[in-house]
Amino acid sequence: MNINEIKKDDGEFIANTYARFDLLLDSAENGLLCGEGKKYIDFGSGIGVSAFGVSDEIWADAVCEQARKLSHTSNLYYTAPCVELAKKLCTRTGMKKVFFGNSGAEANECAIKTARKYSCDKYGADAKRYTVVTLVNSFHGRTMLTLAATGQDVFHTDFYPFPEGFKHTPANDIEALKAALTDDVCALMIECVQGEGGVLPLDAEFVTAARTLCDERDILLIVDEVQTGNGRTGALYAYMNFGIIPDIVTTAKGLGGGLPIGACMMGEKVENTMTAGKHGSTFGGNPIAAAGAVTVIDRLDDEFLATVREKSAYLKEKLSKINGIHSVSGMGLMLGLEVDDAKAVLKKCLERGLLVLTAKTKLRLLPPLNITYEQIDEAVAIIADALSE
Ligand SMILES: Cc1ncc(COP(=O)(O)O)c(C=O)c1O
Repeated sequence: MNINEIKKDDGEFIANTYARFDLLLDSAENGLLCGEGKKYIDFGSGIGVSAFGVSDEIWADAVCEQARKLSHTSNLYYTAPCVELAKKLCTRTGMKKVFFGNSGAEANECAIKTARKYSCDKYGADAKRYTVVTLVNSFHGRTMLTLAATGQDVFHTDFYPFPEGFKHTPANDIEALKAALTDDVCALMIECVQGEGGVLPLDAEFVTAARTLCDERDILLIVDEVQTGNGRTGALYAYMNFGIIPDIVTTAKGLGGGLPIGACMMGEKVENTMTAGKHGSTFGGNPIAAAGAVTVIDRLDDEFLATVREKSAYLKEKLSKINGIHSVSGMGLMLGLEVDDAKAVLKKCLERGLLVLTAKTKLRLLPPLNITYEQIDEAVAIIADALSE
């Protein structure tokens, strides 16, 4: 099939849920994306997935080796890779147990079910202690439950009825949070940096207050690390930048390094809340995805995370000098640039060989965590050029 045939058949046979850019990608070379005879610097990482660059060799070798050895068994049997991964996640975070699914939304579904069951087990169904509070402008996924959890009205249309039991409170407003955490609440779910909402970090005081309030009221604190996790913010998980310990941590994207995986990590309070048959997934913890994820976690050691922070500082400094960038938000290699017309700038970057993302009205940069300084310089020059036109 030639390029034009693929684009035409995509339009005819793929559901209309994605507004694609006019670019067909067909391979990767040393972290560059290749398509239609051109090479692209990747400052999107497939929306935060390719933590060590697209098709990175260490990850690809582990995946291929596992695919040949044992591709899939179902969760009826023990397999080594998911156990190894869960052990590493627990050791690095202090969480006690992990449930594996296949996406961020699934990890959040598991977190919400776990929080509701914890309250139901402890306080009884009659207490109706099932409300989950999330933040205004949050994003937690596209399933019905996670759409309801998402604190943006734009997602609460078309698909009625949405599941009940969610309410939203403004980010960084401690008084509003106090008022929102009423007797019917079982959990508070936050992103430490709101990603889709515009790359907005929470205030440290707000995160600390959230932890204290939840402790006082036996409300579980769920931190959604789907986008911020796995080194993206310069710490293994973004909550670690804030000095708190959540009750539940969800993650996906970068953990998979290119294959679908989602993880719901359960802390001490909820480690035994889920029992056999209460939740599950055919593919969750699949050996191939887990073997790839092990190579991601193994490389995210303290020394490497320090390089993410160094590159972040270097990139922020360079961006701050570009005319047309009004502000730079975010942490680590998860940055939002306030520009006049983010969509137009994205298109100009693409024409110049740089793939970037948007988040609301901002340009969003999620380069691979091992991006080189040379590629940072090239990308910065392209963004400057795109803005100067
Ligand atoms: C913070 C956050 N949570 C959940 C999700 C949903 O993840 P997935 O698309 O893997 O279901 C996303 C996706 O962008 C996200 O950014």
